[in-house]
Amino acid sequence: MNHAAADSLFLRACRREAVAQTPGWLMRQAGRYLPEYRSIREKLTFLELCTRSEVAAEVTAGTVRRLGVDAAIVFADILLPLVPMALGLTYEKGDGPRIAAPLRTGADVAKLPSFDADGELGYVGETIRLTRGDVGTATPIIGFAGAPFTVASYAIEGGSSRNYVHVKTMMYRDPATWDALMHYVVDMTVAYLNMQIAAGADAVQLFDSWVGCLSIGDYARYVQPHLARLVARITPGTPVILFGTATESLLQAERDTGASVIGFDWRVDLAATWERIGHDVAIQGNLDPVVLFAGRDHVVEETRKVLAAAAGRPGHIFNLGHGILPETPVDNVLALVDAVHAYEHR
Ligand code: CP3
Repeated sequence: MNHAAADSLFLRACRREAVAQTPGWLMRQAGRYLPEYRSIREKLTFLELCTRSEVAAEVTAGTVRRLGVDAAIVFADILLPLVPMALGLTYEKGDGPRIAAPLRTGADVAKLPSFDADGELGYVGETIRLTRGDVGTATPIIGFAGAPFTVASYAIEGGSSRNYVHVKTMMYRDPATWDALMHYVVDMTVAYLNMQIAAGADAVQLFDSWVGCLSIGDYARYVQPHLARLVARITPGTPVILFGTATESLLQAERDTGASVIGFDWRVDLAATWERIGHDVAIQGNLDPVVLFAGRDHVVEETRKVLAAAAGRPGHIFNLGHGILPETPVDNVLALVDAVHAYEHR
C-alpha cells in the first residue's frame, strides 16, 4: 500500500472518512477535448497510444497536472482485453470500436483463449508504474476495467448498440453460454485489476456504462451475482467504484455487490438517491457532462448544486455523471475543478 496516497482526499472519501474538501476527478479526463491529447494522437493510433506505456503515462500524469484533479486514472480502455481475446478489435475514426469476430454461440465462447493478463495486458501495469514515478506518492492512481456486462455487450454486439438484442437473445435463449461468458470475463477481469493494483493502483473502477438497458429482474439474474463474485476477489483493502448509466432502478442491487463506491449518473437526484440506497456506502457523481457546454457561471452554479446535495457527508467523490465529451471547452473544465476545490460546506 502506498501510504501517502492513503491519506489523500480521494481515498479518504472512498473509505467514507471526513474530509476538509470534496475530492474530484472526471471520467475520461484525458481525451480529445484536450489539445495536447489531440496532438499526441496525430502521431499514434489509439491502440498504439494505450500500449506505449511511456506515452500513456505522460497522458495520465499530464492531465492531472493540467486540470488539478484529485486522482489520476490510468490511460487505457475498457476494450483492451478484447485484443488477447482475439476478437479483432479496431477503433474506427468517428464511429468508435468495431469487433470483427463477435461472440454469438456457445462454440464461440468455448473457443475463447485463456491468457495471462499479467503478460498480455502488462503494459497497463507498466503505465501505472511510470505514472507513479511521475506524479509521486501523494496522488492516488485509479486502475479500471469494463464491468462484465459492458465488456460482454461489445464482444457480443460487435460494437456499440441501441437495443442489445444479441446480448439479451443470448441471455434468454442460451443462459448457460451467457453464464460461461460471465465466468470467463470475471476471471480475466479479476486477474487484470489485481495486476493493476500490484503495479500501484490505489483504487479500481468498474465501468458498467450500458447495464442500464436491463430490467432489475434481468440484472439480478444475469449480472449481479457475477459482479459480486468479481468484487469479492479484488485485492483486499482496495476500494472498488462501480459506475453505470441509466441505473436508477439498479443502484440498490449495485450496492449489494459489495462495491465500496457507487457511481450516480446525472439523471438521479443525488440527495434523495443517496438517502434511498443508504449513507453507509460512498458515492461518486453526478454532474451532467453536457452542462460543461453552458456558460461558465452556469457550470459553476451546477457544480455547487451537486456539492450542496451531498451536504458534506463523508463519502462523496465529485465527478461527472458520465465521461467528458470530445467538444467540451477546456476552460469550463478548469472552472469546474476550481469550483469543487473552492466549495465550503456550511
Ligand atoms: O478516463 C480517462 O481519461 C482514462 C481513459 C479512458 C478511455 N476510455 C480512453 C479512450 C477510460 C476510463 C475509458 C473507458 C471506456 N471506454 C468506456 C467507459 C466510459 C464511458 O464512456 O462509458 C467505454 C464505453 C469505452 C469504450 C470506448 N473507447 C468507446 C465507445 C470509444 C469510442 C468513442 C469515443 O469516445 O471515442 C473508445 C475510444 C477511447 N477511449 C478514446 C479515449 C480517449 C478516444 C480515442 C481517440 O480517438 O483518441
